[in-house]
Amino acid sequence: MTFKITLLPGDGIGPEVVAEAVRVLDFIASKYNHTFNFTERLMGGCSIDKYNSSLTDETLADCQSADAVLLGAVGGPKWDDPAAKDRPERGLLALRKGLGVFANLRPVKVHPALMEWSPLKPEKLQGVDILVVRELTGGLYFGWPKGRDIKDGRERAVDTLEYYDYEIKRVMELAFKLAKGRRKKVTSVDKANVLESSRLWRQIATEVGAENKDVELEHMLVDTTSMRLITDPAWMDVVVTENMFGDILTDEASILAGSMGMLPSASLGESTVGLFEPIHGSAPDIAGKGIANPIGTILSTAMLLRHSLKLEAEAVVIEKAVEQTITAGARTTDIGGKLTTRQMADEIIKRI
Ligand code: IPM
Ligand code: MG
Repeated sequence: MTFKITLLPGDGIGPEVVAEAVRVLDFIASKYNHTFNFTERLMGGCSIDKYNSSLTDETLADCQSADAVLLGAVGGPKWDDPAAKDRPERGLLALRKGLGVFANLRPVKVHPALMEWSPLKPEKLQGVDILVVRELTGGLYFGWPKGRDIKDGRERAVDTLEYYDYEIKRVMELAFKLAKGRRKKVTSVDKANVLESSRLWRQIATEVGAENKDVELEHMLVDTTSMRLITDPAWMDVVVTENMFGDILTDEASILAGSMGMLPSASLGESTVGLFEPIHGSAPDIAGKGIANPIGTILSTAMLLRHSLKLEAEAVVIEKAVEQTITAGARTTDIGGKLTTRQMADEIIKRI
């Protein structure tokens, strides 16, 4: 089959890890007789430098017309000026909104051989297999009004945490659907003891739960959740939460896996065009050195094959190859080894 994939390597280590993921996809294409047509575009800081815009209309249109989008990372100290008109992160948010990808899936699994790299004791990590479903196009990131002004002679800044019922319902339904293919448990995370938006969140979670009685639903406050992620992570299955809570909790959860470099993500919406990216950032401190861990991006290609291209068998083959590679002891520097980005990808491709 033939597919169109738009590549947005972005900034920092983004281009280095995306290049290796493309080699993996090329290998899959030749092995399984597919054609992947790649179009590479600028997004983030590199796009500000060239076009004065973190996401141009052409790039967004190109992504919208693709079967899937693979993103590296955006941002870096060069574009961090708080007074700047545009920022790399704005491009990413506009892309999420423009693609309508309202659900961000961030799976967290711990490979037994990497448990020593996690700050948690190995006995706490046994059996950890969490899928965080983060709402991605609502909440504080997008709510209106937003901005700065002078009020009563004081400088003021405003962000708005706003949710419509349908925004909560669609991400909640997806979480329940995904839970059915797993351990049938949904933890809905909110701050319903304080926030009005969280009370609506909890109400809708309860309603969707009532329609899906085969899945166990539990409500948990976000502060409690942040603690339970560290004290008892093995007990969680699907965790569904609003945009900002999800942003914070997924960085915390990534630490369980030993390194942020290991974890993939998929952002999905009504259409099949998904956005796939590792959860790590642009890591300016190691950019250009060729030592970044490509596994998060390579596992993101597996999610791309599964969710957007519906190539489940090919996705599983990549995931198995990564697992075997880790078991065999291949390590980049973030997990205590010496392999370069390219060598790690070679080890994985060898096992596909
Ligand atoms: C993430 C990142 C982004 C976010 C930033 C880069 C805008 O932290 O994907 O988790 O906050 O969503
Ligand atoms: Mg984040």
